[in-house]
Amino acid sequence: MKHIHSYYSPNDLYNKIIDGLNKIGTDLSAVTLEDLQPVDEFHIRGDVATKELIKLAQFTPDMHILDVGCGAGGSTRRLSHETGCCVTGIDLSDEYIDAAERLTQLLKMQERVKFHAASALALPFDDNTFDGAWSIQMNMNVEDKLGWLKEVYRVLKPGGRAVLYEVCGHKNSPQYFPVPWAQDSSMSFLVPPEPFRDIITAAGFKIEAWNDKTDLAQKAFANMAEPVGVQNLPELGVHLLVGNDIRTKAYNLRRNLDEERVSLIETVAVKPKL
Ligand SMILES: C[S@@+](CC[C@H](N)C(=O)[O-])C[C@H]1O[C@@H](n2cnc3c(N)ncnc32)[C@H](O)[C@@H]1O
Repeated sequence: MKHIHSYYSPNDLYNKIIDGLNKIGTDLSAVTLEDLQPVDEFHIRGDVATKELIKLAQFTPDMHILDVGCGAGGSTRRLSHETGCCVTGIDLSDEYIDAAERLTQLLKMQERVKFHAASALALPFDDNTFDGAWSIQMNMNVEDKLGWLKEVYRVLKPGGRAVLYEVCGHKNSPQYFPVPWAQDSSMSFLVPPEPFRDIITAAGFKIEAWNDKTDLAQKAFANMAEPVGVQNLPELGVHLLVGNDIRTKAYNLRRNLDEERVSLIETVAVKPKL
């Protein structure tokens, strides 16, 4: 797990984001979720996907939701902003959690949105704590998927719903690397959708919704060309999170989608009531 932690550990992430915002002339006293979207919603189809997940989740303002593998916290904040829920995010990367906390303060959302550095395999919460959970494109880095899902199950209250939006394997293998979530195959643990579904039910969940989003992912990445020469990267973007080879990573993700080496699944899994 150490090399996964290092992959997601850029130096001084918060100040790099602030620097990027300054360079594009953002007024730091009035930063919005939209201003941060290029860097803090690090998953396929960004805020568009997050908004779809919010609709699917149907979380209500009285709920306390857990975001497992929250990264820099963009979707954590968006979920709270759009629903009024309290949301707690956890992530393996201390650097992402530091940026998540400071960005949340910048947006004055710290009353309802909190963060902890922790592993998805050992959640620092009591049984039956949360009304709901979500996890957005983290499973790719987790070899012990049953261990992760059992942890989510444990901390959810009975009747609680877990929304997962996850990259899975597909008919063909191996995948091309590097990709946005991994520099090489030693950090990536993909299983095809059907075994993934079996692992979710083996953890105790009942599947309430199962949507294949691979075609939308393909459309989103259709224009990712193979990068040639020196890349002019924008001031604000996910290269700040995982390195300047992001265009090669996006191109490889496109090839993996087009050649049926990866798929994208959105699902709602429920912890049955007692
Ligand atoms: C592709 S990013 C997605 C981040 C965030 N969910 C988002 O959509 O912006 C994957 C995240 O999973 C985190 N992660 C990977 N393995 C983890 C683990 N075992 N426990 C907690 N977080 C983990 C990484 O640190 C990274 O922030």
